[in-house]
Amino acid sequence: MDTINNLFICLFLSVFTFLLLRAVAAAHLRRRKTRLPPGTLGLPFIGETLQLISAYKTENPEPFIDDRVSKYGNIFTTHVFGEPTVFSADPETNRFILQNEGRLFESSYPGSIQNLLGRYSLLLMRGTLHKRMHSLTMSFANSSILKDHLLADIDRLVRLNLDSWTGRVFLMEEAKKITFNLTVKQLMSFDPCEWTEKLMKEYMLVIEGFFSIPLPIFSSTYRKAIQARRKVAEALGLVVRERRKEREGGERKNDMLEALFEGDGVEGGGFSDEEIVDFMLALLVAGYDTTSTIMTLAVKFLTETPHALSHLKEEHEEIRLRKGEVESLQWEDYKSMPFTQCVVNETLRIANIISGVFRRAMTDINIKGYTIPKGWKVFASFRAVHLDHEHFKDARSFDPWRWQSNAGSTSSPNVFTPFGGGPRRCPGYELARVELSVFLHHLITRFSWVPAEPDKLIFFPTTRMQKRYPIIVQRRSLFDPCKE
Ligand code: HEM
Ligand SMILES: *[C@@H]1O[C@H](CO)[C@@H](O)[C@H](O)[C@H]1NC(C)=O
Ligand SMILES: *[C@@H]1O[C@H](CO)[C@@H](O)[C@H](O)[C@H]1NC(C)=O
Ligand SMILES: *[C@@H]1O[C@H](CO)[C@@H](O)[C@H](O)[C@H]1NC(C)=O
Repeated sequence: MDTINNLFICLFLSVFTFLLLRAVAAAHLRRRKTRLPPGTLGLPFIGETLQLISAYKTENPEPFIDDRVSKYGNIFTTHVFGEPTVFSADPETNRFILQNEGRLFESSYPGSIQNLLGRYSLLLMRGTLHKRMHSLTMSFANSSILKDHLLADIDRLVRLNLDSWTGRVFLMEEAKKITFNLTVKQLMSFDPCEWTEKLMKEYMLVIEGFFSIPLPIFSSTYRKAIQARRKVAEALGLVVRERRKEREGGERKNDMLEALFEGDGVEGGGFSDEEIVDFMLALLVAGYDTTSTIMTLAVKFLTETPHALSHLKEEHEEIRLRKGEVESLQWEDYKSMPFTQCVVNETLRIANIISGVFRRAMTDINIKGYTIPKGWKVFASFRAVHLDHEHFKDARSFDPWRWQSNAGSTSSPNVFTPFGGGPRRCPGYELARVELSVFLHHLITRFSWVPAEPDKLIFFPTTRMQKRYPIIVQRRSLFDPCKE
């Protein structure tokens, strides 16, 4: 009885809050009729959320944006995930939003996601603490660190993972193992072991929690995710305390955790254990799922575009043959993969792992003749721009060659933003590129493959292959003249 009562109270409160919000929004719309971007708020309570979700659960979600852009223009108003939202499909506006982070706009995530990330995650931080943590992250994934340290780890962990492949392989699963093990190594110098495997299991539960955003209170996935988060945080906390002790004994490691310790005592005081744990947890979120998805999708697009795959093969076989029996890739090898870099960009452009970013207007903002009211949500859509025929010729087909001339785009150079921009630009942008390139190199030179069964690319709750992209692999050797 009690639960039913509670449920009713809950429902009543949400309906009431919703009606109130809607009345306020409608008043806004009336009062500023001429100045708000055009659009519709859709159905009561859910707005246009269902249309958005059902579009993004298919392989072709574009109509959701296309329809509205053709009706209202590049900036329109909609109502998704419980709030009226201004949606931008315009590169200039997107740039304006990204560049004015912290001044006119601030990042904004639902409370359910904040609970999973922890207060001190980079994604949620603001102001000077954000600045410090952001540059610290950058300084641990910049090109000189990649060249001198990370490349060797990436190369080794990719090869180690590929060594175990036979027969049928779920590409998405294997890619996740690679990026997870790599992030753990980069953060705290652990090589894959039982401990990392246990951590990964709990960690997957946390990630699943992110997928239950729309109604987290009723979701058991979300409750499990919160529990898992506590366990992961405990495990990481233990590592942090252990390492602090070792440091006092004079031991130093070359990893991100060390950099966080060294951040101790700089202006603004040192980082607490809680800050460090939240930071590491968020870095796992930001770096592991995105990169493993892009690895999977690159292979999918290449498989479906055989002439691109064979061009890429030539590039990598040449590197392999030049290197003889030396297995590991060096920085010069990475730097001699021009077509691979085209494939990387084209995959990022077409896949749009992060389809855009949510922000909140900190004040009334005038842009392109419209006013975005203070407190309103804004969504800067990268996807809408990346797939716009005005900016990329034949924008919806996979064509790596487009990057060989004028940086891919037919218009200005600022339209390609897979990693965002401004003060929150992804600090892992170079790392992700290297991981994908190294992965493609070893995959292509060691295996041939065919899809094991039809699979589908979907975009909600996150961009992924519905069946984790099962493929059947066959080992090949470049040095055996009797093969292929
Ligand atoms: C293909 C792979 C990746 C894509 C597409 C991607 C994309 C993005 C985007 C669009 C943002 C901006 C979010 C915003 O403005 O609100 C971002 C932020 C971030 N990314 Fe990545 N990312 C990738 C890989 C990585 C990797 C490997 C790392 C690991 C270092 C990483 C760490 C971060 C962090 C810590 C942030 C938060 C930055 C901040 O708020 O200051 N990402 N990423
Ligand atoms: C990368 O970061 C390191 C510190 O970790 C710094 O010494 C180096 O100058 C940075 N390199 C570049 C190219 O920014
Ligand atoms: C990486 O991690 C996974 C799961 O934690 C584990 O099963 C795998 O053996 C590890 N090693 C490699 C090289 O992928
Ligand atoms: C890939 O995109 C980046 C921008 O993110 C650009 O700087 C680079 O030149 C592009 N690479 C190629 C090969 O066009």
